[in-house]
Amino acid sequence: MRTELPLPCSISVITGASSGIGWALAQQLAHRGHTLYLLARREAPLLECLETLQKRYPRGSFHALPGDLIDPQQRHDVMTRLKTAMGTSSVSAIIHCAGAGMPAANLADWNPDDLSDALQINTVAPLALINTLLPCMTPLPAPCRIILVGAGIDKRVQPGTGSYGVSKMAMRRLFEQLHDELASQPAEIALMQPGLVDTPGLRQHIRTARSMKLPHADYLQAQLDAGQAFSADTVGARLATLLDATTSQNAFSGREWRTAEISM
Ligand SMILES: NC(=O)c1ccc[n+]([C@@H]2O[C@H](COP(=O)([O-])OP(=O)(O)OC[C@H]3O[C@@H](n4cnc5c(N)ncnc54)[C@H](OP(=O)(O)O)[C@@H]3O)[C@@H](O)[C@H]2O)c1
Repeated sequence: MRTELPLPCSISVITGASSGIGWALAQQLAHRGHTLYLLARREAPLLECLETLQKRYPRGSFHALPGDLIDPQQRHDVMTRLKTAMGTSSVSAIIHCAGAGMPAANLADWNPDDLSDALQINTVAPLALINTLLPCMTPLPAPCRIILVGAGIDKRVQPGTGSYGVSKMAMRRLFEQLHDELASQPAEIALMQPGLVDTPGLRQHIRTARSMKLPHADYLQAQLDAGQAFSADTVGARLATLLDATTSQNAFSGREWRTAEISM
């Protein structure tokens, strides 16, 4: 059981840390005293986030590692920098929030490269991240908690959502595989299904889907207009609670979590 968290030396690695759910989580964990390694694609917004945290928490320890996790060479470079920066430190939490999946207007317009990119970011990147950090997973002070952020669309087939949905389904399978593979490691892994969350990423997705005349664009916009989406802050706070909670390993690990199920 984790009883007195946050631990004084909690070190967490977050992908997608410059926007939406990942940024909300980064702020929550910074407030709880975690040392943070922040990963995102574009350097400028990530450095802005870093600066914000450094100003808010001058005694905190925050590190930015920009790079495109879809691109194999950039991903390799980011992982090498992360490994060097982490050294022999113990990692407390790894949260893979970065995600993508370009919609397509119809089958003829579905570019196989979009599926390839989505698989890179939604499956290959988290595997690379976990493999890189394996030496940093230690039983003490507590096993590393890993969360993959999935999406409910993985099991719901909808027009135009193939790259995103197929790759998130592959992520679900990766999560199941990793749960098995990590059994002998000081690590626990869970899948997070955040539900609909009002983020820059969601709003951009709605604009793109609308330009392709995909029916789910209007549905998602109506949900946002009706206040039916979670805020990123809500999801970030619930994720932080889940990571630092006294939940026993058996209760946390191997489980699919939904935002509404995580009590504060
Ligand atoms: N929002 C929702 O309703 C919702 C629902 C279900 C699941 N999710 C999942 O939740 C996660 C976060 O979504 P969000 O809505 O918070 O997204 P968001 O606001 O678009 O933020 C995405 C973050 O991921 C980074 N990222 C994207 N592509 C990347 C790449 N190739 N390499 C490295 N970093 C990359 C972005 O950096 P740049 O901005 O520099 O690209 C950004 O920091 C995703 O996995 C998404 O699938 C979201």
